[in-house]
Amino acid sequence: MRVIDITQPGAPDVLQVRERPIPAFKAGEVLIKIHAAGVNRPDVFQRMGNYAPPPGASDLPGLEVAGEIVDGDFANTHFKKGDLVCALVPGGGYAEYCTTPSVQCLPIPKGMSTLEAASLPETFFTVWSNVFGRAQLTGNETLLIQGGSSGIGAAAIQIATALGHEVFVTAGSDEKCRACLELGAAHAINYRTEDFVERVKSLTGGKGVDVILDMVAGDYVPREINCLANDGRLVFIATLGGKSANLDCQTIMMRRLTITGSTLRPRPIAFKAAIAEQLLARVWPLLEAGKIKPVIFKTFPFEQAAEAHALMESSSHIGKIMLTMDAIQTDI
Ligand SMILES: NC(=O)c1ccc[n+]([C@@H]2O[C@H](COP(=O)([O-])OP(=O)(O)OC[C@H]3O[C@@H](n4cnc5c(N)ncnc54)[C@H](OP(=O)(O)O)[C@@H]3O)[C@@H](O)[C@H]2O)c1
Repeated sequence: MRVIDITQPGAPDVLQVRERPIPAFKAGEVLIKIHAAGVNRPDVFQRMGNYAPPPGASDLPGLEVAGEIVDGDFANTHFKKGDLVCALVPGGGYAEYCTTPSVQCLPIPKGMSTLEAASLPETFFTVWSNVFGRAQLTGNETLLIQGGSSGIGAAAIQIATALGHEVFVTAGSDEKCRACLELGAAHAINYRTEDFVERVKSLTGGKGVDVILDMVAGDYVPREINCLANDGRLVFIATLGGKSANLDCQTIMMRRLTITGSTLRPRPIAFKAAIAEQLLARVWPLLEAGKIKPVIFKTFPFEQAAEAHALMESSSHIGKIMLTMDAIQTDI
């Protein structure tokens, strides 16, 4: 099969088309003939040599795909040969075929193409497990998303809004802010021209927000503590702005704040299976009802993975960047 290999750590052009054997599935896994794969920021970090795949995972980039199940261990799954699925994969998504545990597969939401469905798993699993799992966003609580126009942000805005939460976002341009509002955010703050702490405080009458989903960290952290409500939760999914922060521990104590975070890729298969079940029950009906839509900014042919990474690193995109495998029909 043809794959996109990281020939050495470095700039986007280290991504090259190469030949590899089709991977062999293990117990509990299926083999997927890939129609489309999502590009995620962790793929960029892996390409640069800063995010090694967990033990046992493919060294090829790619964390989410959609396509046809062509083989597998069907002993304990309702999926069968010929089914079209989207899937969270442990690696190896930039290829014509990949394997993944069958419990990490989900059906293509009705009415959606495999290209659209391939844009869902990595961001939806991450948002669900962090915002609704770790940070326990519930009831009529409010959510602030840093980086609202990212792939993660576009998913988080839509899921939280569809479930009835008031969503605040920050983004790096007025155009990105407008896109976030169109996706359902109630308030969008251009962090380059406005102080998000002041805006959040004034928009909430001084109370602050209940949960913050943060991919920036660094010097954002003391500011985020300032605009969290009492009993608020701050959940990290990345440290784009730096991994160290100054903490006012007394404030955390006095205002009963929780600081947490997680990374999805190294979590056990059983954890990912539980998230898949929750997404199927709570979020797939919203996708099928058109209340949540995939946000695809640009799609590249598989061979142009380097261009796709360069676009992601420019941070000029809004939503997801995708790869399609050529000569494959992506609509179902
Ligand atoms: N913990 C997990 O399990 C997990 C899983 C998936 C992804 N992630 C992380 O979540 C983040 C978003 O992923 P994604 O795939 O949605 O990425 P993405 O679409 O490329 O979005 C990243 C966005 O972050 C904003 N940003 C803010 N500060 C930045 C900085 N210092 N450098 C670069 N960008 C900055 C940029 O928009 P502005 O113009 O608004 O600044 C950029 O568009 C990534 O950091 C990724 O590693 C974590």
